[in-house]
Amino acid sequence: MSALLEMRSITKTFPGVKALDEVNLTVKEGEIHALVGENGAGKSTLMKVLSGVYPAGSYDGEIHYDGQLAEFGDIADSERRGIIIIHQELALVPLLSIAENLFLGNELTKGGIIDWQGTFKRTEELLKKVGLSEAPTTLVDKLGVGKQQLVEIAKALSKEVRLLILDEPTAALSEADSQALLNLMLELKSHGVTSIIISHKLNEVRRVADSVTVIRDGTTVSTMDAKTQPITEDAIVRDMVGRDMAHRYPDRERRAGDMLLEVTDWNVWHSEHVERQVIKNAAFNVRAGEVVGIAGLMGSGRTELAMSLFGRSYGRNISGSVAIKGQPADVSSVPKAIDAGLAYVTEDRKSLGLILEETIQRNITLANLPGVSSGGILNENEETEVSEKYRNAMNIRTPSVFQKVMNLSGGNQQKVVLSKWLFAQPDVLILDEPTRGIDVGAKFEIYGIINDLSAQGKGVLMISSEMPELLGMCDRIYVMNEGALVGELTAEEASQERIMSLIVTE
Ligand SMILES: Nc1ncnc2c1ncn2[C@@H]1O[C@H](COP(=O)(O)OP(=O)(O)OP(=O)(O)O)[C@@H](O)[C@H]1O
Ligand SMILES: [Mg+2]
Repeated sequence: MSALLEMRSITKTFPGVKALDEVNLTVKEGEIHALVGENGAGKSTLMKVLSGVYPAGSYDGEIHYDGQLAEFGDIADSERRGIIIIHQELALVPLLSIAENLFLGNELTKGGIIDWQGTFKRTEELLKKVGLSEAPTTLVDKLGVGKQQLVEIAKALSKEVRLLILDEPTAALSEADSQALLNLMLELKSHGVTSIIISHKLNEVRRVADSVTVIRDGTTVSTMDAKTQPITEDAIVRDMVGRDMAHRYPDRERRAGDMLLEVTDWNVWHSEHVERQVIKNAAFNVRAGEVVGIAGLMGSGRTELAMSLFGRSYGRNISGSVAIKGQPADVSSVPKAIDAGLAYVTEDRKSLGLILEETIQRNITLANLPGVSSGGILNENEETEVSEKYRNAMNIRTPSVFQKVMNLSGGNQQKVVLSKWLFAQPDVLILDEPTRGIDVGAKFEIYGIINDLSAQGKGVLMISSEMPELLGMCDRIYVMNEGALVGELTAEEASQERIMSLIVTE
């Protein structure tokens, strides 16, 4: 196979940051090429350079595509050459239909007016290619993230794609949706489409990739080719973090102290479909020093459980009782829940967790301003000190804590959300998919911080779709299915098979 793409010595700087430093990337025609590296290594930036988001002239180095020097002025330019990028944050318009989204800016017209009949027909064909059977008039809003991801790909296919770039496409997907998407990539490959995939899920990378390029600190570390050497997770990890990582989970001493959080008879109805009960008689507890997991499939109600508990941020007709440290607790609003000692780290960092146009520092101290104030006056030096501490502990990659959060890479934004709630010093910390989009090295750091918290006698409730993570971290695991807690396993009892069998048999 010859090279379809050669990026040579690409250097890209932002004020105060050299995001890419003479990076090289060669992608062969017809292959699936994975791009991996730690949070902030420069993966998304490299793909933005390639697709013209950062136009020619704003970076140094050369892009050779299909045998020619390519100098794209913008995204439309690279699209015309068949390069289609699907960004880390999805870009569909929620209140438009699937068909409208697919042909936005590219409308099919007949005699100067939109040809709806043609649009719907073409939409149906494209949806079929990606395995969706939704009506073209369905609002994107009504689709789960997995299906939205497939619609993005259908959109790419509407544009005669030759090189498809997927930036962390499966980060927010369930196991089944991820598999469907990876299968679709393989299918596209069989039709000659070349793809670049960025992912932190190394098992997926191993499964689909023909080659893997690892970048670290803005430089190319290595490229592995499955034809000449087997691509193993260990080899990828070693190149990513620059050392062997024998253990993915830090050692943890198990201890269960006094009762911290006790929830009984918890019932919640759907916010919009009032007749639908989403949480059914849930009862669970967390003791001081414990890390307790909630396992379950996507849509089983785990996030709804956490959000309804945290100041009724979700749901209607909520009933049940909550006790914290043995006393009835009022958690009926977010401020009250925080006062009562709860904190909730959301799975959706963009919409609920961060103020993007604010600095890292302000975001970290936001949930505990009294912690950096004296006599009601904010002490900015202390604020800086605190945020520097978290920046070091979490290895948040940024030139300064005064940087705006929106300029951080995806994984580093997630670390800021975590820092914010750790600094709030809650008694019980609820973590919803805490390591989504986080690289393996940083995951280890975050697990270490969770362990430290529990060693201090805090309680942690952890929702995660990554079963190895629950098994590696939790003292106990509740299993949730269709809104009900259907089982409870100790660390010793728990295994992937037992969790799955509880989900399936109930
Ligand atoms: N618009 C910007 N302004 C300033 N700095 C930026 C900007 N975009 C990216 N950076 C910085 O460039 C570096 C590389 O970021 P990039 O988003 O490419 O990382 P990544 O490898 O995609 O990480 P992740 O796995 O977390 O998504 C980071 O240090 C980031 O903070
Ligand atoms: Mg990225």
